[in-house]
Amino acid sequence: MSVPTAASGPIPSDKTADDVVDHFYYPPDEFKAARGEGVYLYGEDGSRYLDASSGTFNLTLGYSHPEVVETIREQASELIHVTSKFQSKPVNALIAGLAEVAPAGLTRIHLKSSSGSDANEAAIKIAQHNTGNTDVISLFRGHLGQTMGMINASGAAFRRAPFPAQIPGVVHVPDPYCVRCFYKQQRETCGLLCVERVNDFIDYASSGRVAAVILEPISGNGGNVVPPDGYLQALRALCDERGILLIFDEIQTGFGRTGHMFASDTFGVSPHMLTFGKGLGGSGMPIAGLMTEERLTGLEGHHINSTFGANVLASSVAVKTLEIIRRPGFLENVRTVGAHVLDRLREMAERFPFMGDIRGKGLMIGMEINDADGEPDPTFTNHLAALGMKHGLLLRTSLYGFGNVLKVRPPLIMTMEEADEMCDRLTRLFEDAS
Ligand SMILES: Cc1ncc(COP(=O)(O)O)c(C=O)c1O
Repeated sequence: MSVPTAASGPIPSDKTADDVVDHFYYPPDEFKAARGEGVYLYGEDGSRYLDASSGTFNLTLGYSHPEVVETIREQASELIHVTSKFQSKPVNALIAGLAEVAPAGLTRIHLKSSSGSDANEAAIKIAQHNTGNTDVISLFRGHLGQTMGMINASGAAFRRAPFPAQIPGVVHVPDPYCVRCFYKQQRETCGLLCVERVNDFIDYASSGRVAAVILEPISGNGGNVVPPDGYLQALRALCDERGILLIFDEIQTGFGRTGHMFASDTFGVSPHMLTFGKGLGGSGMPIAGLMTEERLTGLEGHHINSTFGANVLASSVAVKTLEIIRRPGFLENVRTVGAHVLDRLREMAERFPFMGDIRGKGLMIGMEINDADGEPDPTFTNHLAALGMKHGLLLRTSLYGFGNVLKVRPPLIMTMEEADEMCDRLTRLFEDAS
């Protein structure tokens, strides 16, 4: 790799665009994206891919939704940013809209800049401040973000292995992963042992001073683990009994992904706090934040603010996104198309023995890829995702490529025809790989 001199500028003039790759901190994929439209992403070479992962699971409205593009044009010419201590029309409209759709009991909204990790850290700070306690309970396969704090609060130990100093007081507990139950139970008779045992973790593994339980209602990166009926209710009851705050990380599940505005609605359980991000940006605008119960105010701005907090341009897009999601038929389409995709995948599983458990709600779907003994096969899972490109499909796998779940989370605007095209492409991919 040649290092540019100060005189030559960041990209030496004798380098081609391809040489620029040398300057990336880690090597990017070879694919060069040129433009996107709806559920499709197009390469510079004219290739077209159906994006079954919605970008980074955030393109609720697909690529460059025309109403988002128009909103950006209009808002950018008025105001892009103002310090978050001032009010502005887009921010006020967004706060009002979010307050209207918030799960029961969540009345206060705080808009962070762009990052879900940042929103989760703010929620934990609020919990610590309000309870006077320190510890945090999260799930083995939980993915709560990339900051130092959130790699520690997340499960998946390999992600924090290189970093010695992390926040203390995090206790990880087994996921409600019935098909691979940590406690080797059967759902019909388990009595939700995975919730019951959380008491033991609090009593024996924590400092005894737990501020919050934080989890994704359906784990995103952890493998699309859908909790059994009653799990979230039982967890909420445990938290209420023990004076612990329950935080739902709805950064992936929020804004229609599970067929309702929030997974909280899908499962019929309100948390004490809820964090959001990703999908609220519609076609990829960076925005994130949190909702809390009224009683949880009190933390000062200097503890939880950031420069791009409540960004005006991003807020204008979020208002438009919320408006579109709330239009008649939008969420119903997510439920109908999602159910159809689940049916088709289950039919396919009869032909392809490597397809294991298929699970999901709305358009948050995952399928296990297993070996001949029914054991997780991450290598083959990654192979399928890579081969997907040849079949015009963008697919992502769980646990940063260490997991065995292929995720199917297309933009929520997906039509039935596009869903069939996605499933047909998956079928051809699986035939090719068999
Ligand atoms: C469930 C969940 N929580 C938190 C995060 C972190 O969000 P961000 O990458 O915006 O910091 C992610 C990102 O993938 C996520 O999926």
